[in-house]
Amino acid sequence: MKMNKRKNFVSGLGALFIFSACTSQPEVSSPDGNIKIDVVREDSCLSYMVSVGDKVLILPSRLGLVATGLTIPYDAKMKIKHSSFDETWSQPWGENKEIRNHYNEMAVSLSDDSIQYTVRFRAFDDGVAFRYEWNTVSADSVILHDELTEFAFADAAMSWSIPGNFETYELEYRNLPVDSVADANTPFTFEIEPGGVFGSIHEAALYDYPEMTLIRTGGRTLKANLAPMPDGVKAYLPTVFTTPWRTIQIGESACDLINSGLILNLNEPSKIEDTSWIKPQKYVGIWWGMHLGTMTWTMGPRHGATTENAIRYIDFAAENNLQGVLFEGWNEGWETWGGDQHFNYAKAYADFDIDSIASYASSKGIELWAHNETGGNIPEYEAALDSTFAYYKSLGIHTVKTGYAGGFAGGEYHHSQYGVKHYQKVVETAAKYQLMIDAHEPIKETGIRRTWPNMMTREGARGMEWNAWSAGNTPEYLCTLPFVRMLSGPMDYTPGIFDIDYERAKNDPGRIEWNGPNDYCKINTTLARQIANWVIIYSPLQMAADLIENYEGQEAFRFFRDFNADCDWSKALQGEIGKYIAIVRRAGDNYYLGAGTDSSARNLSVPLSFLSEGVTYTARIYADDPSDRTKVIITERKVTSADTLEIKMAPSGGQAVTFTPI
Ligand code: NOJ
Ligand code: CA
Repeated sequence: MKMNKRKNFVSGLGALFIFSACTSQPEVSSPDGNIKIDVVREDSCLSYMVSVGDKVLILPSRLGLVATGLTIPYDAKMKIKHSSFDETWSQPWGENKEIRNHYNEMAVSLSDDSIQYTVRFRAFDDGVAFRYEWNTVSADSVILHDELTEFAFADAAMSWSIPGNFETYELEYRNLPVDSVADANTPFTFEIEPGGVFGSIHEAALYDYPEMTLIRTGGRTLKANLAPMPDGVKAYLPTVFTTPWRTIQIGESACDLINSGLILNLNEPSKIEDTSWIKPQKYVGIWWGMHLGTMTWTMGPRHGATTENAIRYIDFAAENNLQGVLFEGWNEGWETWGGDQHFNYAKAYADFDIDSIASYASSKGIELWAHNETGGNIPEYEAALDSTFAYYKSLGIHTVKTGYAGGFAGGEYHHSQYGVKHYQKVVETAAKYQLMIDAHEPIKETGIRRTWPNMMTREGARGMEWNAWSAGNTPEYLCTLPFVRMLSGPMDYTPGIFDIDYERAKNDPGRIEWNGPNDYCKINTTLARQIANWVIIYSPLQMAADLIENYEGQEAFRFFRDFNADCDWSKALQGEIGKYIAIVRRAGDNYYLGAGTDSSARNLSVPLSFLSEGVTYTARIYADDPSDRTKVIITERKVTSADTLEIKMAPSGGQAVTFTPI
């Protein structure tokens, strides 16, 4: 490493000279002029502030990094470069296949012969973003100790978030005034009081860098808090680097945040040229039985992933217009889960005849999924990655569900730079073998699906499994999820349990409660809300998570048969964070609407103006039965875009509707 005689600190730039060196104003506004970023000097630090309309949203807030090897000379000149961008791009799948990326940019650079250092700002109509970029010749490497980025709220704000945690996102939401938050993870959604804007702090394009959580440093100021590595270092970085974007989505309503494309717009276009093998799917799987305790992952009398069950699930998928089948517990090693964690990713248990199952699935036009639970044993998984994925490709498999239920060796955090690099390695290796990824216990979504469209979906919040062995997810949680976790991208929540009181499991004398005792557990919503969640909780790989026995002969399962996971367009229509939500998606000529409420009964009037004008549709409505939460009332009527749908929801209920052109 070269000697570093200057301050190893890129903020606190002794910025007195900065503005005198400017040739233009250090500010940039959104294309519609409503949102403005100013770069300011305060206490020798480079800072930014954000205004919306005539109100300040973010007061001057510190920028910068504390890093060995990243030294900004005090006499560097500040240069400001403005530019604009406007492009509508398309993606192979997503909530919206067409997205407009329209922003004004300002690059603020401090450079001399030894370093080019830039903070790049973008102002969109739906929010702001900035990131740090450097190219230094004054060192061989950069060792990051801290990121100084702050978000200082000008006014009182209410917030919705999970606590900051470098290991898991499977935590409950808190609804707290910003000045009572100790720490938080992102997305960190807020509402400025009273009647002010809505917003959400998150990050975009997270590569080779730890995740950003937030800690409150006083008053209403939150600061970046990066996941460290065991030696306390936040990241070992190259001499030429761009950090992830720090983002603040901004909207007039909470639904505006859901309808924003800002996170994807801050990611690079696809690196996968031929995306024809990347396809959204609906799937079922041998899965819920293990969580309920009626099946086991390990081989034995109640083993779930047997050849016989595989054939049953494949037949069910083929008969019900589904495309994929997942099997958990198919491969050797589950006896070591929670112990020393050694999985064999290419060796099936003796009662799972993978070759004949793969050829049977292919004869039925059904996709087989491989499941890779790692238990957190990253070194072994990485060593096996190439050969494993090559093997799956040879079997005609196109989807892998990964899992990291267990601590990483050596004290590494799931969300550290080490973790981020691992998750990315899996995505890129999978792309080589034309495999799509569904990651559980993942790193948070930051829009990398635009660049790596085989990174389909992930967990990263409390999913359905929590209903099997805990007090479960409340209707309030489900009404918060779309406005917080889902702002980052798709989630494999694994929705759609029909036996919501677990009657079948409770009547199974051989049930061995997993993580039990679980007798008190149940689904905390109505059946109609379970159906609506297939629309509300977006995932391009969408699961019907219940045991297939619980769907057989159920008229309500028609919704999932008719549903198309490959949507073209989506819109959050109405909602209040934690209280209710209504979302519509279009796939081809059909529309699917999902609405849900909290523990209170609620009526919504939803104008159908999103439907194509001049077309008459059959609306098939799956509504709450007010007298029985386990039942839905299914009705049909003709509607046009001139009509208004009156949605009636029971406490913890919902409604789902398909609109098919006549
Ligand atoms: C946790 C995952 O979220 C769940 O889907 C899976 O069944 C278990 N780990 C076992 O891999
Ligand atoms: Ca999980």
